Amino acid sequence: MAQSSQFSRKILCIGAGYVGGPTMAAIAAKCPQYKVTVVDINPERIAAWNSDELPIFEPGLLDVVKIARGRNLFFSTEIDTAIEEAEVIFVSVNTPTKTFGAGAGKAADLQYWEKTARNIVRVSTTDKIIVEKSTLPVRTARAMERILNANDKGIHFEVLSNPEFLAEGTAMEDLDHPDRVLIGAPETESGKKAQDVLVEIYANWIPRERILTSNVWSSELSKLTANAFLAQRISSINSISALCEKTEANVNEVARAIGMDGRIGNRFLKASVGFGGSCFKKDILNLVYICEKYGLTEVAQYWENVVAINDYQKQRFVETMLRVMFNTIAGKKIALFGFAFKADTGDTRESPSIDVTRHLLEERAQVVISDPEAIPNAKKDLADCETEVTYMEDPYTAAEGAHAIAVMTEWDLYKNLDYDRIFDKMEKPAFIFDGRNILDHQKLYEIGFNVFPLGTMALKHF
Ligand code: UDX
Ligand code: ADP
Repeated sequence: MAQSSQFSRKILCIGAGYVGGPTMAAIAAKCPQYKVTVVDINPERIAAWNSDELPIFEPGLLDVVKIARGRNLFFSTEIDTAIEEAEVIFVSVNTPTKTFGAGAGKAADLQYWEKTARNIVRVSTTDKIIVEKSTLPVRTARAMERILNANDKGIHFEVLSNPEFLAEGTAMEDLDHPDRVLIGAPETESGKKAQDVLVEIYANWIPRERILTSNVWSSELSKLTANAFLAQRISSINSISALCEKTEANVNEVARAIGMDGRIGNRFLKASVGFGGSCFKKDILNLVYICEKYGLTEVAQYWENVVAINDYQKQRFVETMLRVMFNTIAGKKIALFGFAFKADTGDTRESPSIDVTRHLLEERAQVVISDPEAIPNAKKDLADCETEVTYMEDPYTAAEGAHAIAVMTEWDLYKNLDYDRIFDKMEKPAFIFDGRNILDHQKLYEIGFNVFPLGTMALKHF
């Protein structure tokens, strides 16, 4: 231990995923005085974190990892040793939606969290601060505190909530300059002390006025609420996109006009084929489940509709494809441009592309999937459709002989392709469905495409 005594604090993160990895890399890079260890039960993930082929694609992440790795940032599978020596333990293990039993389809599956808590109790020999980083239903911290503090070793665990607000694709920037950091702690003397420790860690690079403190429950609920509000904006504009397609309104013009109202603001108003990502749906359904548990039926229904509109938007996208392609897409080749749930990530969790692909396959279309980063994940998501789907990273090859292109992810790459060249190699009439409204629709129309944007009138040659 002589070597580790050079560090003023030992911080551990359990779970080396999209949240744990980038967050700890940022802390380690900003705070060379701390030893930051990240552990995971998955040895391949840890091996990848220790290589130049990181397990997740996140712009700027490798540079930050390289600053600190081997200096004060360590990735390891030695979970027990790491727990024993840490004073502050961030827990960012996965908390997927339950697929079984009570609350299936809505409530969070806390089995990984609870296993981690029990492991911490088993191994620890000193007091520790435990930080909830994974998104958890409200009042989870209390349950964890009970498990942790039901030990007969005389060890005290302080459980804090420090929800993650970073968005994939911009995670490093979000960690560098967060709008705010939220730290919820029990309103007790030891809770306040633990809160101060965490505030001090973040204050190494974040202005104090951006570090908010609150009680644990407000902190947990703020995370769910922030994601519910963001998702609600997208479902709101997406619902209007449907109306725009029936009228002569243009959803981009509407979004621009309402976004200039300072009270509304202009962000998160891009109509799309639907929101995805590991958080929005899961967090809203968690909120719905909690409201139902408290008998707040109307509140639960209100939020559940945000998810319903998202499903409707995906369904509507495929229905439009089917309708305009002469009510049959059976045997027709359809190239999906993008599979990630948004640009600048290889993550496909809850990506609208998954549902859209499945709807297209139900109609017996031949789906070709193209994406610069997400093909390995897409293959896992669609493992059961191996024979019906093909994968081609190059969009030009993917579109060869296709009847239609559907833009699913707003990668910059797709904005600047040579669409003349693509058009020449496609079946005619050639269709483009722009699920992200990122292309130059007029230009595509002039090339000869039949263009179906979201929330604006179609441009068609027939
Ligand atoms: C989100 C929250 O933004 C973040 O604060 C939280 O910590 C985790 O969940 P993330 O899931 O990474 O982050 O992505 P985000 O940028 O919020 O986008 C979510 C989905 O909404 C994506 O599929 C995106 O394409 C879609 N979206 C976003 C739209 O369709 N329209 C918009 O205007 C904005
Ligand atoms: P998130 O997006 O919340 O970061 P991920 O699924 O990307 O979620 O990451 C969660 C990580 O937690 C995974 O790498 C998984 O292997 C890890 N994990 C799950 N359970 C445990 C556990 N008991 N101990 C250590 N790591 C765990």
